[in-house]
Amino acid sequence: MISITNSIYNAVALLNNDQIVSIPTETVYGLAGNIYSQKAIESIFRIKKRPSFNPLIVHIKSVHDLSQIARDIPETALLLAKAFWPGPLTLVLKKQSSILDLVTGGKDTVAVRVPNHPLTLALLQQLTYPLAAPSANPFGSISPTKAEHVATYFHDTVPMVLDGGACERGIESTIIGFENGEPVVYRLGSLAIEDIVAVVGTVKMMTHDDTTPIAPGMLSRHYAPLTSTLLTANVHKLLKTFSHQKIGVLVYQNEIYNQKITAQEILSPKGSLTEAASQLYAALHRLDKLNLDFIIAERFPDVGLGKTINDRLQRATKK
Ligand code: TXA
Ligand code: MG
Repeated sequence: MISITNSIYNAVALLNNDQIVSIPTETVYGLAGNIYSQKAIESIFRIKKRPSFNPLIVHIKSVHDLSQIARDIPETALLLAKAFWPGPLTLVLKKQSSILDLVTGGKDTVAVRVPNHPLTLALLQQLTYPLAAPSANPFGSISPTKAEHVATYFHDTVPMVLDGGACERGIESTIIGFENGEPVVYRLGSLAIEDIVAVVGTVKMMTHDDTTPIAPGMLSRHYAPLTSTLLTANVHKLLKTFSHQKIGVLVYQNEIYNQKITAQEILSPKGSLTEAASQLYAALHRLDKLNLDFIIAERFPDVGLGKTINDRLQRATKK
């Protein structure tokens, strides 16, 4: 049985014993292990049913530890780290040779970030090693933003969730890689691209290629509920095409009045994209439990975190 507790002491004991622990971050919960423990890292891949070519993110306690993990760090990467760490930004950099191939999926690069959650930062302070952690969900499914989501997924296979409450951001970190020192977006996330541009001038968007994704988070079906999901700019119009199905609706700001709707999630009545992002996965988890025939999601404004939300909703529609 999984134990849900806020005891850092218990987490340290498990991790020092090559076990894995689910940790809270400001983005989503992670499934964490000692980056230098072959055994712990193997358990993460096995429990998550994650393909071994899909690398993990290394979580460090501060930018001062970066040189133990990465080398030849571009100036722009340091600028971004200084601006946004601790925070929802992951940098993909050349790896130090001490980093296990298992962590990086055999790549010569490593993904690294400083998470912004007080419990996990306190935990990292007490460890002599960083933590490798993917999101704490089975491969392809919706990421967990609460300890109970993790417990539902892994009650028999993970010994402990360090309960840090609901994740403040609610969507994974933004991943940035570098080509000739120039920043490239590998995955949209909780840090808006506009905020990154404000620091480094311009960023390139990684073009989409499903067969050879640089970050498998770019695989088109990912972050997906089990219920068939549709994305539309006009929920009313799409509802007209249904008659007897059980429909759940997910909207940004304004409630939709229509008798065909069984359940409705309004992500931010006050119209804040930050709030909507923080609520997105929890809402999808709730809708997914209702045995609906379809979830209809409303397309978000294509700015700031709206871009990230549309990216995740788009992936949720793929079968
Ligand atoms: O917010 C987050 O980033 C959360 C929390 C727990 O930190 N973690 C997370 O991990 O979302 P995961 O494993 O679900 O997604 C990490 C993504 C994957 O798409 C992986 O392919 C990519 O990062 N990645 C890791 N190492 C990489 C590398 N060397 N090059 C390119 N992509 C990499
Ligand atoms: Mg994930």
